Amino acid sequence: MSTAFEPVRIGRHTARNRVVMAPMTRNRAYGPGGSPTELMATYYAQRADAGLIVTEGTQPSPIGQGYLNTPGLHAPEQIAAWKVVTDAVHARGGLIFAQLMHTGRIGHPSLNQLSATPVGASAVRADGSVRTATGPADFVTPEPLDDKGIQRTVEDFADAARNAVEAGFDGVELHGANGYLLHQFLATGSNRRDDEWGGGPEGRIRFPVAVVEAVAAAIGADRVGLRISPSNPYNDISEDDHRETYTALLAAIDPLGLAYLHVAEGPDVDFTPQLRQRWSGTLILNPFTPGAYTGPDALRHVESGASDLVSFGALFLANPDLPERLRAGAGLNAPDYSKAYGGDHTGYTDYPTLN
Ligand SMILES: Cc1cc2nc3c(=O)[nH]c(=O)nc-3n(C[C@H](O)[C@H](O)[C@H](O)COP(=O)(O)O)c2cc1C
Repeated sequence: MSTAFEPVRIGRHTARNRVVMAPMTRNRAYGPGGSPTELMATYYAQRADAGLIVTEGTQPSPIGQGYLNTPGLHAPEQIAAWKVVTDAVHARGGLIFAQLMHTGRIGHPSLNQLSATPVGASAVRADGSVRTATGPADFVTPEPLDDKGIQRTVEDFADAARNAVEAGFDGVELHGANGYLLHQFLATGSNRRDDEWGGGPEGRIRFPVAVVEAVAAAIGADRVGLRISPSNPYNDISEDDHRETYTALLAAIDPLGLAYLHVAEGPDVDFTPQLRQRWSGTLILNPFTPGAYTGPDALRHVESGASDLVSFGALFLANPDLPERLRAGAGLNAPDYSKAYGGDHTGYTDYPTLN
């Protein structure tokens, strides 16, 4: 039996424990042109005891931004500023991957540097709204990507991955979960295309697979992770055939030898063991815990062998020294969600450690 406090391989790296900091958007990239700040370096360095830190969703291109003050990895000033973050994490012996998040139709023209209509798989508007500088605004109908746009987006991901390596990241996680662009292509509700990028599972996986392959070719498969969330309806996603789709996706990418697969588990929890079985590499599980956040009992998934690592969002937000607290069975700070998205150091870098 493995415990969560033993090392494990993540691609070309070794994680010192199996407690992962899940990616969390914090909307504090107040540096020039969407660059991270010194405060963000402090925040991530505080959490460097994680086996792996996955950063907040980071746009690979200007049009990939769908929220206020999220960081990018497409401009020189962003690369330089991220280097300060990765140096601070490495100085504490940590491992850090950048999550590349293209939000696709989840966004608003006022939220990207181009003031452009968000792009998507098809012209299908997501039901819901997003916070803009002037208050909440309904999602808009996205501009469907044409062949050239798809190719450019694939290249944007590969360029951003190269930028991540230049910025000192140990790898990248591709955000294929939670209703953003890659997920919009995978899901039947948002992908209504009748060309080779849509239709059945083989067509709908094609764009995410192209992104994974291009990024793996750019920086090495053993520095690339993929996050998926089969059956998760977040961001108005509907999936008629998620089991077939994700089975096809894993069949296509398992042979590439990626660093890991990160499963943000959805309501179809019975599907997770099948994913485990169909994935020959390292698996990170973010368990489905409706109405609550992932708690210390999630470590049982490592002990049972259901997963190699477990990721924690809310608890890592509120407990910089989470691995130590879990190991000691110590008390845990509760997250203050009112300070989650944007703001200053409060509710960000001021959560106390045990010492
Ligand atoms: C404040 C906040 C921001 C989040 N931002 C992201 C994100 O940028 N990318 C992502 O893949 N998931 C994001 N998530 C989802 C978390 O990674 C995680 O899957 C979710 O919080 C459930 O895990 P937990 O119960 O341990 O918090 C976010 C969650 C929270 C609480």
